Amino acid sequence: MSERPPLRLGILVSGRGSNMAAIFQAIDEGRLNAWPALVLSDKPAAPALEKAQARNTAALALRRKDYPDQAAFELALAAELKKAQVELVVLAGFMCLLSPVFINEFEGRIINIHPALLPSFPGLDAQKQALDYGVKISGCTVHYVTEVMDGGPIIAQAAVQVAPDDSVETLSARILEQEHRLLPEVIAAIAERWPEKV
Ligand code: GRF
Repeated sequence: MSERPPLRLGILVSGRGSNMAAIFQAIDEGRLNAWPALVLSDKPAAPALEKAQARNTAALALRRKDYPDQAAFELALAAELKKAQVELVVLAGFMCLLSPVFINEFEGRIINIHPALLPSFPGLDAQKQALDYGVKISGCTVHYVTEVMDGGPIIAQAAVQVAPDDSVETLSARILEQEHRLLPEVIAAIAERWPEKV
């Protein structure tokens, strides 16, 4: 592991936060030279917030409806991340589409995890889309975030076999195992080379 100080992460979540927990675990086990400077959610009731607070990680929710428009909301998110001196922004199940207003504040320093092999099946319900299409291999993708939804440069992917009797739940669970491995690995690779791109 490099000698540089831990890479300061801002983790954006909307739900249960299992990917966030995988990041925490990788940090705790010394596999990832990073520090969760701030967890931010657009949903005050997100279980991820409780999980973060339980390990004494700074965590807070900002609600879109408390701001006059999307741009003001995104600037508020960016301001909190900057106050926490976040270097890399990780979207880990953040279900709110971000516009260039936010993306420009962290140009080239935002990554996302998506539960399909992009460019196939972007957007919501990726696992259902994959099953409906009948693909035999799916997986997950970590990519840089641009203004094209799920469309930025791909950093890494993991493949998962689709079983003939898979349901959305069973396929999602198998993909999630790979997400939990891949996302911390990618962040570790980014941290090793920071500020160069991987
Ligand atoms: C994951 O499947 C991720 O790929 C997608 O949203 C889900 C978040 O799950 N973007 P969790 O909140 O990390 O458990």
